[in-house]
Amino acid sequence: MNDPARTGHPGTRAVIIGRPITHARSPLIHGYWLKQLGLDGAYDRREVMPGAVAAVLRELRAEGYAGGNVTVPHKEEAFMACDRVTERARIAGAVNTFWFEGPELHGDNTDGIGFVAHLSETWPEWDREPAEIRIIGAGGAARGLIAPLLDRNVKAISVSNRSRERAETLCDDIRAVLPAAPLTILDWSDRGAHLGTVDLLVNTTSMGMNGQSPLEIDLSAMKPSGIVADIVYVPLETPLLAAANHRGLRTLDGLGMLLHQAVPGFERWFGQHPSVTQALRQHVFADLLAQH
Ligand code: ATR
Repeated sequence: MNDPARTGHPGTRAVIIGRPITHARSPLIHGYWLKQLGLDGAYDRREVMPGAVAAVLRELRAEGYAGGNVTVPHKEEAFMACDRVTERARIAGAVNTFWFEGPELHGDNTDGIGFVAHLSETWPEWDREPAEIRIIGAGGAARGLIAPLLDRNVKAISVSNRSRERAETLCDDIRAVLPAAPLTILDWSDRGAHLGTVDLLVNTTSMGMNGQSPLEIDLSAMKPSGIVADIVYVPLETPLLAAANHRGLRTLDGLGMLLHQAVPGFERWFGQHPSVTQALRQHVFADLLAQH
């Protein structure tokens, strides 16, 4: 893990690009790890206008950055700018983590593996039996999640999106890479149907976020051992998670995904494996509370 040619060296700098960038949490997370591990490195933030991503990435290389993260709204543009991407980034059509290797710009999408890492840490037995999964939404976040979930012990994934067409495109795109992927589509009005056999339900939409309407879904028929997960983390307990908790279902909040998605990038740029601890979670949570 400490190969300096691949993972960086003292004085390594990484950066997050997005717009707006002031509320990005990644500097808080990476800054915490740099300090905790006593590393000589820096993690900066840079606001980038749409259309300028490829040019800015070239500048960052010239400035000596090892790599960085990409946040809203640039994940697709960064994907297009990369010379090489991982298979999961290709399926997602989006890049949230990049690094420079020789003359090439490499991109990965760690959102989905961050989600699965948090899920497996919190509920280690979740896929001991082949799991049936319901994904709510078919946007960028759903794209990021599906490939890493398909790498696990999964029996079926049903996708329900307000715009059915978008769910169809998503499933077609995944099947183009993984032809045997066990994907089905449900109409939006059926998003809460057949929950009695669903082991994991994930909201990948922005519904339930502060200022947005909650995701309306009837959990009364959900399998008692089922897990309800949200990728929204402001608030930490979304109305969906509150309803699941009220029913005694197992839940998974969105903050863990945010923390875990940062691990592979840090490891690559700074050459040390960082840990997602309760102390880090508290640190980021305190910041969320202060800002909202
Ligand atoms: P992200 O990259 O965060 O996933 P996105 O690509 O814009 O963002 O996708 C947003 C997702 O939330 C989509 O699944 C969207 O549904 P549509 O494809 O039908 O637009 C869903 N979404 C957002 N607001 C919604 C709402 N009020 N009701 C239902 N779905 C909503």
